[in-house]
Amino acid sequence: AFLDAFATQCGFCTPGMIMAAKVLLDRTPNPSREEVVEALSGNICRCTGYEPIIQAVLTAARASSQNAA
Ligand code: FES
Repeated sequence: AFLDAFATQCGFCTPGMIMAAKVLLDRTPNPSREEVVEALSGNICRCTGYEPIIQAVLTAARASSQNAA
């Protein structure tokens, strides 16, 4: 989802973003946008402006819930 949403640019923040997203989705499989923003808030990205990252996490959540159904 990060690749599809162009949520990486230099990639420096990507490992931390993905780990934070994994923890969020393990605990909250269908997070709201606000929950995604809060979960990622400890990670700083100097490149993307955050919106592609947020959309990637929401897309991953939707894909995961569709696969579980
Ligand atoms: S992609 Fe460069 S810091 Fe986030």
